Amino acid sequence: MKVAVIGAGTMGRGIAQAFAQCDEVEKVYLCDIKQEFADGGKDMVKKGFDKRIAKGKMAQEDADKILNKIQTGLNSQAVDPDLVVEAALEVMDIKKATFKELQEDIVKNPDCIFASNTSSLSITEIGNGLPKPIIGMHFFNPAPVMKLVEVIAGINTPAADVAKVVEISEKLGKTPVQVNEAPGFVVNRILVPMINEGIQVYSEGVADIEGIDSAMKLGCNHPMGPLELGDYIGLDIVLAIMDVIYKETGDSKYRACTLLRKMVRGKHLGCKTGIGFYKYENGAKTPVDKL
Ligand code: 3HC
Repeated sequence: MKVAVIGAGTMGRGIAQAFAQCDEVEKVYLCDIKQEFADGGKDMVKKGFDKRIAKGKMAQEDADKILNKIQTGLNSQAVDPDLVVEAALEVMDIKKATFKELQEDIVKNPDCIFASNTSSLSITEIGNGLPKPIIGMHFFNPAPVMKLVEVIAGINTPAADVAKVVEISEKLGKTPVQVNEAPGFVVNRILVPMINEGIQVYSEGVADIEGIDSAMKLGCNHPMGPLELGDYIGLDIVLAIMDVIYKETGDSKYRACTLLRKMVRGKHLGCKTGIGFYKYENGAKTPVDKL
């Protein structure tokens, strides 16, 4: 099987790694709008492997085998994939234009399945006006590690595509859960309002940053507290998901916290900008008081 992953950011490169690690996948095209972005994505995968090799957890030859399957380039290299997984920016017009170009001008395999890794946008709307249907194939960060794939059917997604994507997810060693299209699907509908609530609790001065994260880790056995998880996902992504769920449902319980919006406006996005609820410097993480 050949797979094209569109977008080499955090999710795209993780998804590319997850596919390349699967024995049934012979080639992964890791694509972006600039060659250097695609190369940078592959380089991050290599750096992750280098760390594991240094710890004695991975053999160099296994890393090389996986990396050799990942071919970087522009979207135009994706001529013969069996599956496209789009992980571009969470902007509807960009996703639509990307799929239009792939379906009309680039991908020549008539049986190719076109999937989006969108975190909350409507699969039906992404597919509107396109020659071929779209399906949701939603991975979780870090994609090579997290076991879940949400397989999301829009109103025009063929059942055969759902069955095929479920089968592919299982081949990757993931557990697929079938989801009918709804704002935020299952996980983000529950998880992201919880993170937003964590930010609200903080902005009311109920506890400090580390206190809130410790409380949720120790009290609920979550691997990360809501504020560190928000930083990890990216606070811009958290805000975008809240805004989509709020807009689609009109329900005020999904209103984004004003502190979250202010932080995103100020580029305090979390790990990716080096500052969010924590400051990330030289591998260390220290809480940043926002009140
Ligand atoms: N890429 C690849 N592998 C990674 C990785 C990454 N970015 N981060 C960690 N790993 C691997 C490590 O190599 C290690 O593997 P090994 O044991 O074989 O060497 C394993 O994961 C565990 O990593 P660590 O020992 O360094 O750290 P932890 O045990 O603390 O686990 C964690 C890290 C898996 C990130 C854990 O803290 C966790 O599960 N956090 C919650 C993540 C979560 O909730 N994700 C979902 C976010 S929502 C989402 O993605 C949806 C989107 O639409 C917004």
